Amino acid sequence: MTDIAITLTVNGVVRRVETPGRRLLSDCLRHDLGLTGTHVGCEHGVCGCCTVLLDGEPVRSCLMLAATADGHEITTVEGLAAPDGTLSPVQRAFAECHGLQCGFCTPGFLCTVTALLRDNPAPTDEEVLEGVSGNLCRCTGYQNIVKSVHRAAEIIAEES
Ligand code: FES
Ligand code: FES
Repeated sequence: MTDIAITLTVNGVVRRVETPGRRLLSDCLRHDLGLTGTHVGCEHGVCGCCTVLLDGEPVRSCLMLAATADGHEITTVEGLAAPDGTLSPVQRAFAECHGLQCGFCTPGFLCTVTALLRDNPAPTDEEVLEGVSGNLCRCTGYQNIVKSVHRAAEIIAEES
């Protein structure tokens, strides 16, 4: 099959990619662009591990063709930290509150929570659980993830 040329802005950098027309966005990010921070779990839209931000909104990159993202802006977990490597408030909060164990689900949670707190800077417990309901974690039992989200909200408020 002939590859097609697409242009994605990934973590602020314009990337031109020749990729098979049926390639998933998750595979394009991982295999064509080497951004293996985006994890792939179920590959059918259930686990949320592959969540990235498409024009700022969380999407499951395993459910989207790379070609569909042509011309759009994508943020992966690699793009959440500041250019000097300083971790984002959400990343720092997850580290501080032990919001991860094996870490497999973590890139998806970090992207989801980044968008969640942008849209709702002070969520209740219920709103946090609703907000992360599309991301599955098999390790933490979610309690420390909820704590991490509240801590991230505090850090964002302190730093704004
Ligand atoms: S790998 Fe995409 S939702 Fe599970
Ligand atoms: S930390 Fe292991 S799946 Fe979430």
